[in-house]
Order: sequence, then structure tokens, then C-alpha cells
Amino acid sequence: MVAHSGLFTVMERAARKAGPRLRRDFGEVQNLQVSRKGPADFVSVADKRAEQTLVEELRKARPDWGFLLEEGGKIEGDPTKPRWIIDPLDGTSNFLHGIPHFAISIAVEEPNGAGGQPEITTALVYQPITDESFWAEKGRGAWHQDQRLRVSARRDLTESLIATGIPFMGHGNFAEWSRIFGAVAPEVAGIRRFGSAALDLAWVAAGRFDGYWESGLQPWDIAAGILLVREAGGFVTDFKGADRAFIKREVLAANDALHSRLHKLVAGALR
Ligand code: IPD
Ligand code: CA
Ligand code: CA
Ligand code: CA
Repeated sequence: MVAHSGLFTVMERAARKAGPRLRRDFGEVQNLQVSRKGPADFVSVADKRAEQTLVEELRKARPDWGFLLEEGGKIEGDPTKPRWIIDPLDGTSNFLHGIPHFAISIAVEEPNGAGGQPEITTALVYQPITDESFWAEKGRGAWHQDQRLRVSARRDLTESLIATGIPFMGHGNFAEWSRIFGAVAPEVAGIRRFGSAALDLAWVAAGRFDGYWESGLQPWDIAAGILLVREAGGFVTDFKGADRAFIKREVLAANDALHSRLHKLVAGALR
């Protein structure tokens, strides 16, 4: 058994409370009330209920911490304390189409990390349908259930399976994505678009995917996943290759060898 920190226990308890409700709603998805936040940007009562459960549970454990929530926006807390960055249901399109590939993503952001900048220090990506937890603590590694996670050891692009997210209806830059796709696809063994950025990163951390790129992302999509990849020994940068502490919109993730090869292809495509 792995010794979980108290914080991780709090996060997992919250996710395991929201998870079964998501599973129930998934079973009755045709009856769920759905609204549209923008073009092809849907939200259901399941997203909102899951978020509410997570906020209630986490607030009980850490009453003075703030939140950054996909659906509810910012809730201010004590600015000297960490805040929670939460996507209550990453993969809403899958969920609404009855595709069982979605996750809860919870990250802890400390206000004064390295260099006085905010820093993600604990991460959980929880997949309710499979009841799998991917979690990481800064400096202490990444884990899948009780197994230590390592990014894949593949060094040859021609053997690699790469995940991406495809921009849709005004979300992200489709022309840029197509140029990158055109450069990467002929060089790799396969490309997948599964529809959950949090799981894409968790699966890079787990060595299931060898790499991943996407742009047009939001902090709640990737805050937990970036820490997972880094703590599993991988590299995460933006498309320029800059290793910024927390990347806000675009992500290129892989092991060290594949990251530099993918980065060359991406940089060439965007030149
Ligand atoms: C989406 C998923 C998807 C990604 C989109 C995100 P949501 O999040 O992570 O994989 O391509 O950019 O918006 O809306 O399902 O939480
Ligand atoms: Ca959404
Ligand atoms: Ca999301
Ligand atoms: Ca979401």
C-alpha cells in the first residue's frame, strides 16, 4: 500500500461521492436537462450536480480554501491558502452521447510555489465508470491506484500512439491543429481523439499514450493532468517548447525523447 497524504484522502473521498452520482446520471442520460453555454459547448445537470457535491465535500475539509470551477467560476477563499481547480465532468460530449469515457479532475494550487508563482501540488483524475484514480503529489510521484506511474519508455516515433484534441466550432485554432496533424500523423503509429483532456494526460502519465497535444484548453482541463505527467517522469510544455510551470492554453506532453521529436514536428508545422 502507498501512504496517501491527508489531502489526497480528502480529494478521493469527494470524487468517490460525486462519481456514483455521475454513474447514475450516465445511466439515464436521455432524461437529463442539457443547456448550451456557447456553440457546441454543452452542460448538463450532471456536470452541475457533480460540481456541487465536490465543492460541498472539499469545503467541509478545508473551509477557507477558494475554488476555480468550470461551471461555477471563481469562489474566493483565503488568498494565503491553496485553492481547488476543478472540472467536475471532463468529457461532457462523451457523457451526453453515452460514451463511457469521462473523468473528474481535481487539482490543488498553492499560491506561493517555486519562484513565488502559484503551483499545482496535488492532483487527482478519477474515472467514475472504471473506478480508477490517477493521482500525483509534487515531488512524490504519480500513481494509478497503488501502482507507481511512469510515462512510456518508447523512443521511436514510428511505434508511438499519440492523443490529441480537435478544435471544434470556434474552440481552438483548427488551421493550426491541421498543420500539426499533417506533420505528426505520417510519422507516428497512430493518433487518438478520445474527448477528455484530463484522461489524455493521465493516460500519458500511465504510458498508455506516448504523447499528447492540444490547444484551446482551460486550467480545469489540465491542472491535474500536467502534474500527473511531470510526476510520472514526462515533459509538458507549450508548442514553443517553453517549460512553464503551469501551461494555460496549449499542451505538448510526452517522455523526454518523444517530446523533443514531437516538438520539432510541431515547431516545423507552425513556422
Ligand atoms: C473538454 C474535453 C475535450 C477537450 C475540450 C474540453 P469538457 O472538456 O477535455 O477533450 O478537447 O477542449 O473543453 O467540456 O468536456 O469538460
Ligand atoms: Ca465543458
Ligand atoms: Ca474539461
Ligand atoms: Ca467539464
